Amino acid sequence: MIVVSGIQPTGKPHLGNYLGAIRNYVKLQDEAVAQDGTCLIFLADLHAISLPHDPKELYDSTLEMVATLVACGLDPNKTVLFNQAQVPAHAELQWLLNGTARMGWLNRMTQWKDKAGKNREGQSVALFSYPVLQAADVLLYQATHVPVGEDQKQHLELARDIAQKFNNDFASEEAPVFTLPDPYIPETAARIMSLRDGTKKMSKSDPSDMSRISLTDDADTMAQKVKKAKTDPEPLPSEVEGLAERPEALNLVTIYAALAETSAEAVLTEHGGAGFGQFKPALAELMVSVLSPIRDRFVDLKDDREQLDAILARGAAQARELGTPTLDAAYKALGLVRG
Ligand code: TYM
Repeated sequence: MIVVSGIQPTGKPHLGNYLGAIRNYVKLQDEAVAQDGTCLIFLADLHAISLPHDPKELYDSTLEMVATLVACGLDPNKTVLFNQAQVPAHAELQWLLNGTARMGWLNRMTQWKDKAGKNREGQSVALFSYPVLQAADVLLYQATHVPVGEDQKQHLELARDIAQKFNNDFASEEAPVFTLPDPYIPETAARIMSLRDGTKKMSKSDPSDMSRISLTDDADTMAQKVKKAKTDPEPLPSEVEGLAERPEALNLVTIYAALAETSAEAVLTEHGGAGFGQFKPALAELMVSVLSPIRDRFVDLKDDREQLDAILARGAAQARELGTPTLDAAYKALGLVRG
């Protein structure tokens, strides 16, 4: 079992990141340890330069994200925790895979289409080739499990396509260079939506801070955001089917279910018939009880730069070693001689 996943260090991590991905990093970290496997989680700082960013802030937000991940339960003694920039093999393997990835495959990526909008010509090449770096991230370590939210599923399918084509073109069936990775997507919280618009994904880049719960929000801020969350005037139904045309209500019930680690059905059995005046305070209370301990640990850790630097340095040294055999095999398969 080899678990690999990444998170961009730009912006503050939010509830969608936590329920969709980070919680599963922790779960799979523990499963990997139990099975003598390996878990690698990294800060995708190389991905972060695909959009305009402030170089003065990038490393600080990387450290802040490390503090958040540790606060959420990632243990640097169990997980290899690092940032891509300290492991050059990610960028090297991306270049090698650029020979295999096809323009048409990248052109179909919905994240590229959404982020580029109408201005494709004005985007960086990095934004377009971003999924190839993501493929390199996981293929470098022979990942078997990749915990992600729903929005990354297509990128993972692309990573499989790249691995398969590379293996077909440059390796034998008996000795493939790459393992095909499987996405590991949660059932209940694969796609947490904005608190202001139930049809839009909760996102670090949404201009409205009220659209998301940040893991670093204090209890009052969280309660305030839940109170102000967009809803409709109807009470909650007692069956999930009753949420079909009600994206905001569905989102709040989904968040409740994910935080309580139960199903939407169970939440509606308990709260069906309640109005939002009743349901929102219950949701806020549950949220604060789950997220406050994380915030408290984050506050304790965030200013200890020395410790956070050391976690990244140690993780990077481990990752460099773990990635070497696959990088070497990829160079060799392509006929590239390196002395
Ligand atoms: P990023 O930084 O946008 O998000 C990190 C993780 O959080 C998940 N996520 C969500 N899950 C549920 N609901 C939401 N509203 C929500 N928003 C974000 C994402 O699916 C992701 O799992 N390209 C990636 C980072 C990356 C990566 C990788 C991931 C780079 N290389 C290799 C996996 C494997 C990204 O930008 O995630």
